[in-house]
Amino acid sequence: MGKTYKLAIIPGDGIGKEIVPQAIKVLNKVSELYSFNFEYLDISGGAQYYLETGREWDEGSFEICRDEADAILLGAVGWPGASLPDGNIAGAGIVFGLRFGLDLYANVRPTKLYPGIKHKIHGNLKQVWEEGLVDLVTIRENTEGLYTPIRGSLNRGGVEEVAIDTRIITEKGSKRVINFAFNLAMRRDGAPKDKQKRVTCVDKSNVLQGDRLFRKIYNSIAKNYPAIATDYAYIDAYLQWLIRDPDYFDVIVTSNMFGDISSDLAAVLGGSLGMAPSGNIGDNHALFESVHGSAPKHAGLNKANPIATILSAGMMLDYLGLKYNDTKFIEASKSVETAVTKLLLDSKTLTYDLGGTASCSDVGDAVTKFISNSD
Ligand code: NAI
Ligand code: MG
Repeated sequence: MGKTYKLAIIPGDGIGKEIVPQAIKVLNKVSELYSFNFEYLDISGGAQYYLETGREWDEGSFEICRDEADAILLGAVGWPGASLPDGNIAGAGIVFGLRFGLDLYANVRPTKLYPGIKHKIHGNLKQVWEEGLVDLVTIRENTEGLYTPIRGSLNRGGVEEVAIDTRIITEKGSKRVINFAFNLAMRRDGAPKDKQKRVTCVDKSNVLQGDRLFRKIYNSIAKNYPAIATDYAYIDAYLQWLIRDPDYFDVIVTSNMFGDISSDLAAVLGGSLGMAPSGNIGDNHALFESVHGSAPKHAGLNKANPIATILSAGMMLDYLGLKYNDTKFIEASKSVETAVTKLLLDSKTLTYDLGGTASCSDVGDAVTKFISNSD
């Protein structure tokens, strides 16, 4: 028997409890086909858990993620009305605790318009898929920028007069995330439009000092990658180009808040939030999760689209392949994406957000079946 890979599984809140089991079905199928030995470390936690128990997750959970897990898969956290005494939403301590605590500096958010997807960009549900229209990845810096926890407010006489959030851009933080973006671009096939490998540096360096530093470091790293085209855009102009010419983009690297907002916008180009996976990756640890939240209004109805979480599990397999230098994981990751593509082309088993009537578990079963069919 080969190595046992330990995967921390945190379903979290709302639809997280329904979509994560679908990803587990897929992982079980993959482990059968490729003879992986997975051990799941189940971790309870989130806002609903906080309402039940008074804690976001049990003591020792962070340490399991840090000391035992080879990778982490998260559903979603957050629930209406569940706040901590300090006003923060309950469950956020899990996501931010892991992002900062495990130094997961690269937030990797791929956006792809898969075959057969109908999307709602113009308000109508219509077929607009074209071969290779959208296949881009946003790399968002994940540990500094405007989300650095250096903030505060000035209260005088009970009046909150001033609130300050500090935007920190460091050489260390920029270097590692920009290097990550270039290395990822080397593994990809380039932008759909011209097949040119391209890393676009998105910033506001015409105004902000931190972004001048970010761009300077981008330039120094770009020199080491002659096969990759350098490209620059100010965040405001970038947003309209992203929507007008998505096929021009390959890999985008940007600071924390610009990446948070622009990748949500980019997710629209993939047809549904239910199609948007992500990874939070550091040098020693990684956490994979869908971009969307716990969608409380759909919770408990077995109707959410599990594909974002299934694709996130696929990204986790790719990560394990790179981490342990094992091409079987890379193949397994591709087989997950192929199965999703087959499901979409078949178009019989789609959830409501893609214009279908299938349930969440129907989609999990169908993707799992397509994985076995492909081998
Ligand atoms: P949301 O992403 O949970 O849902 C917004 C809407 O998007 C849903 O009402 C639904 O129409 C659609 N949607 C999302 N995921 C879907 C899926 N898999 N299949 C089909 N449709 C889907 O955002 P919302 O409602 O603003 O937030 C709900 C909770 O989730 C909040 O507590 C929020 O703080 C939390 N949240 C957590 C995130 C995380 O865990 N990283 C990220 C975003 C929100
Ligand atoms: Mg966001």
